[in-house]
Amino acid sequence: MTNLHQKRWNLVSRLYSRLDQGMQTGQFEIWRKQLMTYIKGTHVLEVGVGTGANLSFYPQGLSLTGIDFSMGMLQKAALTAKEQRLEIDLQQMDIQDLKFPDASFDTVISTCVFCSVADPSLGLDEIHRVLRPNGRLIMLEHVRSDRWSIGLIMDVLNPILAWGLGEHINRKTGKLLQVAGFSVTEEHLWYDIVRLFTAKKLPLFSRKKQDPLL
Ligand SMILES: C[S@@+](CC[C@H](N)C(=O)[O-])C[C@H]1O[C@@H](n2cnc3c(N)ncnc32)[C@H](O)[C@@H]1O
Repeated sequence: MTNLHQKRWNLVSRLYSRLDQGMQTGQFEIWRKQLMTYIKGTHVLEVGVGTGANLSFYPQGLSLTGIDFSMGMLQKAALTAKEQRLEIDLQQMDIQDLKFPDASFDTVISTCVFCSVADPSLGLDEIHRVLRPNGRLIMLEHVRSDRWSIGLIMDVLNPILAWGLGEHINRKTGKLLQVAGFSVTEEHLWYDIVRLFTAKKLPLFSRKKQDPLL
């Protein structure tokens, strides 16, 4: 399954920067800058780094690592980093199976990624593991609307988009974060669909025992 996703993203990487202009300029650019202000500590991991849309916004003095499972995307990110003269350790890796030891990072960043991770709970568990105690996960993601009519439309469209594009538009990312062992604050940026999550790692014993209906 992951292999299919990887192939899809390798294909998309050829045109991604052009296709996704809307997510790299204007209001998105402002949101990307905003999330940088929530970074704590010096060891930062960006998951699903893509073509490197966030790279120009990182403050100086960080030890940066970026992962993505698409080699095509990573090659673009390497070019972006070179243009920005930014030092970043880029590695091909699946978010659902991070190869870092426990408690390696102070902050993890994810922008527009968790709509396409095949098993988001697994990915969040892995991020929880590699974060240091009290470490932060900062996410800019689109999620399912809480308004019943919009949420229903998203539920109806989701299977088609998930099948065709691997894109899930009805993820309840806030709830998934709580189940994975984070205390979560969220800001609604565009209606209640695009949200900025600031999630603090809680110790494992305070995780909820049962998944709520997700
Ligand atoms: C919509 S793009 C966003 C890229 C970038 N974060 C941005 O804000 O422009 C999603 C990225 O997540 C990556 N991705 C999706 N699932 C992944 C996984 N399981 N492991 C690693 N990377 C993944 C894709 O290859 C792609 O680069």
